[in-house]
Amino acid sequence: MVRRSSVRNVAVGITGMLWFDGVNFAQVLEGEHDHISGTMDRIRQDNRHIDLAVVIDCQTRGREFGSWGMVLADDGAAGVEGTALLLGLLVSVQGDSARRLHDVVTACEI
Ligand SMILES: Cc1cc2nc3c(=O)[nH]c(=O)nc-3n(C[C@H](O)[C@H](O)[C@H](O)COP(=O)(O)O)c2cc1C
Repeated sequence: MVRRSSVRNVAVGITGMLWFDGVNFAQVLEGEHDHISGTMDRIRQDNRHIDLAVVIDCQTRGREFGSWGMVLADDGAAGVEGTALLLGLLVSVQGDSARRLHDVVTACEI
């Protein structure tokens, strides 16, 4: 799944990170607005996802995950760095979804 998504994302210039704690996924997608919308539409139609929430949707000055290439951050160095980057993104975000994701990420023993 990661490889297929990654190939697809690369084809439209989407970069980001996929974080997984064994139960929950958190994903960062960055790229052109239309490509992100198209990808999100497909992800929303995939009924494997339960309780999908968009936590942050914003315009940025540049890519923060340009070199990640949708790496699966689930263990080892990728897990530690990915977890730190996610927490960094969540610092300035309010709301229930952000709080829930923060709780999931901090509860994880990566
Ligand atoms: C956790 C998770 C993350 C995913 N991330 C992406 C993604 O970044 N890009 C993508 O194209 N598909 C991603 N997918 C797959 C989509 O949910 C969906 O299955 C796929 O895009 C549908 O493509 P299709 O309509 O060609 O079958 C992800 C699936 C899962 C379970």
